[in-house]
Amino acid sequence: MPDGGQLRESWARIVADPHPLQPWRDGAAFPWADPDFSERMLRLHLDQSTHMASRTLPVIAAHVGWLEARLDEAFGPGAPRRVLDVACGPGLYCHELARRGHRAWGGDVAPAALRHARAVAADGALACGFFDLDLEDPSRQLPAEVADLDAVTLWYGEVHAHPPEATLAALCALAARLRPGGLMVLEYQPWDLYPREDLREWRACDGSPFADGPHFWLQQYHWDEASRSEINVHWIVDPATGAARRYAQSGRAWRDEELAALCAAAGLGGGVFLPPITGVDGRHEFAMLISRR
Ligand SMILES: C[S@@+](CC[C@H](N)C(=O)[O-])C[C@H]1O[C@@H](n2cnc3c(N)ncnc32)[C@H](O)[C@@H]1O
Repeated sequence: MPDGGQLRESWARIVADPHPLQPWRDGAAFPWADPDFSERMLRLHLDQSTHMASRTLPVIAAHVGWLEARLDEAFGPGAPRRVLDVACGPGLYCHELARRGHRAWGGDVAPAALRHARAVAADGALACGFFDLDLEDPSRQLPAEVADLDAVTLWYGEVHAHPPEATLAALCALAARLRPGGLMVLEYQPWDLYPREDLREWRACDGSPFADGPHFWLQQYHWDEASRSEINVHWIVDPATGAARRYAQSGRAWRDEELAALCAAAGLGGGVFLPPITGVDGRHEFAMLISRR
């Protein structure tokens, strides 16, 4: 039986959550850099039965084939390309690029994902390198060799996951590593796909990215029109002890013209908006924007 005092404390914390929630103020990002969280997320990244966290390997191969075609259009067919994948997770895009003969680098904050990315590259003698990169910390410099790039990619809506000023600063720093004419490739969630309603739900589950073993999972979603942002809060309650942990993630929605303006402010132009690459999963695969330095 859970301890009654612990349960009362957990319920009091859950009930004390602000209503309505305010994106960014009441929680900005999951603890991606936390070792335990990172280990659980790695399992989700590699799970071939879902497109959550990372898409399945065949979809990633299709995305990389699409990127090769866009690079051929931009620079003519052929040569090995130099590509940086930002927020690369377990490096699945870099691995696929390297298998196709390109030079790829990936940066992320998640230790387990980076460990996996490096191990696969070493096992396969793949031409890719991985490093710690915090998109929100401009003091962490990219390695000097990651320059003169043909493309920088931010897959899976990463352009929404940070406060707008941090996103702009990151895009400026990344654009500077592109060769002239190089491609900034953003997979983004179109404005119309954001739910404009408040949602609350709970479920009991045997395991999730938030905890191993059985737990209650209470989720609250709020859309804030003023900041054009969403917030998702997850309370994870351990039925054995009554202890509760809170995770929150905010996201900034961008209209197409705002995203184009953001890229322009980072010195990127000629934005081309394109539909999702495979269309395999309406919830977990988004539209594409290509801008050029
Ligand atoms: C949804 S996953 C996508 C991973 C990968 N792009 C893919 O599609 O397989 C989001 C990734 O962003 C990373 N991330 C979150 N915050 C970050 C930050 N501030 N800087 C760099 N990476 C970050 C996470 O660690 C995670 O690997």
